[in-house]
Amino acid sequence: MAKSGYLSKRITFITGNQHKVKEAQGIFSHFQIEVEHVDLGYPEIQGDLDEVARYGALYASKRLEKPVIVEDAGLFIRELGWFPGTYSSYVQGTLKNKGILKLMEDVQDRYAEFRSVIGFATPKTEPEIFLGVVEGQIAHEERGEYGFAYDPIFIPNGYDKTFGELKREIKNRFSHRRRSLEKFALWFEDYRGD
Ligand code: IMP
Repeated sequence: MAKSGYLSKRITFITGNQHKVKEAQGIFSHFQIEVEHVDLGYPEIQGDLDEVARYGALYASKRLEKPVIVEDAGLFIRELGWFPGTYSSYVQGTLKNKGILKLMEDVQDRYAEFRSVIGFATPKTEPEIFLGVVEGQIAHEERGEYGFAYDPIFIPNGYDKTFGELKREIKNRFSHRRRSLEKFALWFEDYRGD
């Protein structure tokens, strides 16, 4: 149950991705946090997920003059030296899932994880970072119509289906984004502003 604070429990989520907005709305409804969605582009600096999220959150909160969250995510495959990692978006648009499966041909160790980092910033404070991870395996072929991007080639641990075969409600129960958003929401419940 959300506690009442001095700050209204409304947060501005900066993203151009409707999938992420829907996931956030579903998760935040349990915490009585209202999501305002703003599609404001922000510079994606070269760096790890933390750095990208910190920079993006600070940039957007200064531009909009209010507290915001941004999210940066990626697929990290151990046997490929954690590729595509922070290049996930670019690689999804170029190699695509077929290219990843080709790179993984004959590879025994198929361990991979999705990571999601939420960056929270206000115009006056240092950004806060919240990490969520879901572990799994790279499938041998694309399966399923749900979700987006790498979902059809990622089998979360404990399942024999890919994220592409699992309905959004199921994926949302334990996805990397669920975990990072939930960490943020728990922290935000007690946040009193600066
Ligand atoms: P973004 O820059 O944070 O939007 O995420 C980078 C890329 O990671 C996205 O463009 C997708 O290709 C991939 N990605 C992130 N989250 C997911 C997910 O939940 N399912 C599938 N692919 C994802």
